[in-house]
Amino acid sequence: MNVPTLLLGITGASGSIYAKRFLQYAKERVFEVELIVTKTGEAVLRHEGCEDILQNCGKIHKIDDFFAPPATGSSGYYGMVILPCSMGTLGRIAAGTSDNLLIRAADVCLKESRPLVLVPREMPFNEIHLENMLKLKRAGAAIIPASPHFYKHPKNLEELADTVVEKVFSNFLHFL
Ligand SMILES: Cc1cc2nc3c(=O)[nH]c(=O)nc-3n(C[C@H](O)[C@H](O)[C@H](O)COP(=O)(O)O)c2cc1C
Repeated sequence: MNVPTLLLGITGASGSIYAKRFLQYAKERVFEVELIVTKTGEAVLRHEGCEDILQNCGKIHKIDDFFAPPATGSSGYYGMVILPCSMGTLGRIAAGTSDNLLIRAADVCLKESRPLVLVPREMPFNEIHLENMLKLKRAGAAIIPASPHFYKHPKNLEELADTVVEKVFSNFLHFL
């Protein structure tokens, strides 16, 4: 890999616009992005009108393909962002199930000490969600909730979403 390649996981939480903006950001910063999308992730991103994500990225790995490069630590990915991250996927990563390629890829990042950023979106959080987040933070993941801010006076949804994406990126770049 000549340029740093990131993995972007998209799950069935609301907030596909974050993934769309993340792809744009990564492109502008000369990162290559490979995608892993869960079944519900694809349904929700179509529901939210962001299906163009599936055309505008590099490689898309099949969710059940454990022979794909993200499934192994020998592949040289820089790290992984899961954006948006459902509570279901977050719980399965915390439990170490590795039962689809997205969850396995996150597990690989943790075992190889590579950056793993989870962007959960749910409200309110229940005790199980909070315990899973604490567990993952302690295991080496960064937890950056999809909590956009307003103090830069965003003029549209894209600018609002960017307040989260910028935070994800700056956290990620810390490791470079
Ligand atoms: C329109 C829609 C919005 C959803 N939003 C959320 C959400 O914001 N957070 C969440 O944790 N789950 C949300 N869900 C539920 C998840 O999609 C569901 O738990 C699913 O099993 C997650 O699967 P995945 O983690 O494999 O993508 C939503 C479902 C739908 C249909």
